[in-house]
Amino acid sequence: MTIVGQEATSADVTAGLPADFFWGVATSAYQIEGGAAEDGRTPSIWDTFARRPGAVVNGEHGDLACDHYHRMPSDVAMIADLGVDSYRFSISWPRVQPGGSGPVNRIGMDFYKRLVDLLLAKGVQPWITLYHWDLPQELEDAGGWPERDTALRFAEYATLVHDALGDRVDTWTTLNEPWCSAMLGYDQGVHAPGRKNFGAAMHSVHHLLLGHGLAARELRARGVSDLGITLNMGVATPFSDDPRDVDAARRADGLATRIYLDPLVHGHYPADVLEDIAARGVTMPVRDGDLSAISTPLDVLGINYYSSHTFRGGADPAFPVVVPQSLPVTAMGWEIVPSGLTSLLVRLHEDYHLPIVITENGAAFDDVADADGFVSDDDRVAFISSHIAAVGAACEAGADIRGYFAWSLMDNFEWAYGYAKRFGLVRVDYDTLERTLKQSALWYRDVIQEHRGR
Ligand code: NOJ
Repeated sequence: MTIVGQEATSADVTAGLPADFFWGVATSAYQIEGGAAEDGRTPSIWDTFARRPGAVVNGEHGDLACDHYHRMPSDVAMIADLGVDSYRFSISWPRVQPGGSGPVNRIGMDFYKRLVDLLLAKGVQPWITLYHWDLPQELEDAGGWPERDTALRFAEYATLVHDALGDRVDTWTTLNEPWCSAMLGYDQGVHAPGRKNFGAAMHSVHHLLLGHGLAARELRARGVSDLGITLNMGVATPFSDDPRDVDAARRADGLATRIYLDPLVHGHYPADVLEDIAARGVTMPVRDGDLSAISTPLDVLGINYYSSHTFRGGADPAFPVVVPQSLPVTAMGWEIVPSGLTSLLVRLHEDYHLPIVITENGAAFDDVADADGFVSDDDRVAFISSHIAAVGAACEAGADIRGYFAWSLMDNFEWAYGYAKRFGLVRVDYDTLERTLKQSALWYRDVIQEHRGR
């Protein structure tokens, strides 16, 4: 059998990557942990949202998920067995600070101490994300991210986690994909908390960024020197030279990319985006000093890349229209555009000059397991291989890219899509919770080993 991409395992795939480029796998708390009501954890907005009829395919939820909360030691052994340098995971806020205020829940925090200690004992560097979408429900009840107080609560939570883990963890990411929290959660209503209000979404953008900035300041003051944020983005290409299409791509890029990166790096929101949102009756709730907190220097920018899109102007210019390009798609229906990753990384390097780590890249496909639970996922190997090559091309073009995390370590709760969409390098049998390495996991391990040997 020929594995697509297998012949290109070695130098071809990693060509262009620096010798000290590092490799990892990533997960997030709500997607894998389960243990939703254990040891003092209180509900997050995802526990609540998943209970809403119609919110998640088949009414699925994260109560058990991959049961990582109880299988963590063997999961760590599996991670180490893949030969990765680093494991990116998130802390469940309602597990370590139930309700989002007050003292630490020691027993919840101890879970992460044990996780970190086991990783370090196996020579795997822990990469912590403080917020991967599981806001304590009480904070949503008090108004959620559209309210300024949530940013203050987040900074306090960040310090509590750092108090507990700062002696053994070097790398800290504040937020994962604030675009999703704001736009999917508060504008489109397809993610928790399921609100549909553009103004609330824009206020969330500001308070997410403010929460990031206040937390970043605290962590910096405590000596953290490997600090970042993770943003999801692609390249927005105009369908034609028609000024309406060019404007559509500008708007799409503005709301997905520049509205985050300009304040983070340059200390101000992009004027054109502020004009666009003002035309929709919204102003950003900026107060004195906010932008200086938000632009606290970053050591690294995390980029999650899945696809890129082509846009044309719609009947209402405020709503750019995606034009499908008839490219192959993943099981999510997302077009496969590795060249977009190269263009994106080169553009980010030119416009923002930050060291970058790919904190997520990967794909869901309709996996078929054999009688032993093994999946020959040639499609996933080809996807990851082409995207690693795209990173190498960006490095050759001068971008400073330091590492790559595959999303995801294992199949897990894919938010509104439930468990049907599988992104794992490792298959999870949801009847037995047994884990089985897929072909992609074996291939990834080989790539890492061969790159190390170069
Ligand atoms: C990005 C998110 O961070 C992650 O939670 C999600 O599972 C993947 N995209 C795939 O949709």
